[in-house]
Amino acid sequence: MLLALETSCDETSAAIVHGGRVLASVVSSQIRLHSEYGGVVPELAAREHLRNLIPVTTAALAEAKVSADQLEAVVATRGPGLPHALMTGFKSAQAMAFALRKPFLGIHHHEAHLYSPWVSGKPLAADFSAFEPNVSLIVSGGHTMLVHVQAELKHRLLGSTVDDAAGECFDKTGKLIGLPYPAGPEIDRLAEKGNPKAFNFPRPMINDPADDFSFSGLKTSVRYFIRDNPALLDTPQGISDLCASVQSAIVDVLVKKTVKAARRLGLRCVTASGGVTCNRALRRELATACQASGLKLRLAEKELCTDNAAMVGILAERKLRQNKNGDPVTEEIRPNWSLEEPVTAR
Ligand code: KG4
Ligand code: ZN
Repeated sequence: MLLALETSCDETSAAIVHGGRVLASVVSSQIRLHSEYGGVVPELAAREHLRNLIPVTTAALAEAKVSADQLEAVVATRGPGLPHALMTGFKSAQAMAFALRKPFLGIHHHEAHLYSPWVSGKPLAADFSAFEPNVSLIVSGGHTMLVHVQAELKHRLLGSTVDDAAGECFDKTGKLIGLPYPAGPEIDRLAEKGNPKAFNFPRPMINDPADDFSFSGLKTSVRYFIRDNPALLDTPQGISDLCASVQSAIVDVLVKKTVKAARRLGLRCVTASGGVTCNRALRRELATACQASGLKLRLAEKELCTDNAAMVGILAERKLRQNKNGDPVTEEIRPNWSLEEPVTAR
């Protein structure tokens, strides 16, 4: 049984994981705190993590009905992420592991996302018996990447965004429309009543042979479009059509490039995770495209799409089987830890 902490961005989260089962998962989101500023303010995030860490950890232990001395390990996200935010959870986990004389392990945040689609049900539990090599799409506010997951705990980065992340594109275009931060969920809601073909926005790099993405050009074209058609924002239908059209451009690129990578590599399975995977159009379109190409699709459960410690605990448990003593408690955070580097690299 282990305690996992996640503080890489603006969610303070603690989870208790035992034998692949999530006994407790507590997430305290800071969205309201940051929305006033239109984005995550790193220093505020770190201070808020410090305030939340003990209550969130206590709540997770209470929910799982376990005491600290029953824990067999304490693990935390080591990177990538906001340095001061990462530091709070990582150093707390090290201190706790040291005090309890139990192993500590630092986890790569994106590697944890890669395995989250294999966790499902109520209560949440991992099922790797159905695992297949796959192409995994990670789409969040900070990252957009395609990864070839060759085997359990073995992966290779195929491509990532060269500028804005998909979530960032949702958030920045939402800001142009006048929606509050983060705009992704609101665009998703408004787009349901809109026509995705109303306006034709560019689909950057959609036919590019590389597996990389680019979203800043799309945001810019939305800016000019709104400048040239300001009356559009005066009617609910105009706003919904705009949201549906922008969303459709983002989703088209994500879906087409993911399926293309899977087919090129001869894989039979696609997985997706990260905050943007909550998007209903993305979930629908991925399902349709995968079905048409004979690919199995595993989407992370919505509660595991946004950042959470449960996925960190699930991965840590599997890693601790190979690395029983864990990492030294003198390790440091790795804010720029790339998924391309071997995950055990110092
Ligand atoms: O993974 P996440 O919680 O945080 C990180 O960025 O690490 O992802 C947050 C991002 C935000 O950009 C938010 O707008 C987007 O995910 N998002 C959505 C939806 N829900 C969250 N984007 C589109 N549709 C949604 N339903
Ligand atoms: Zn994430």
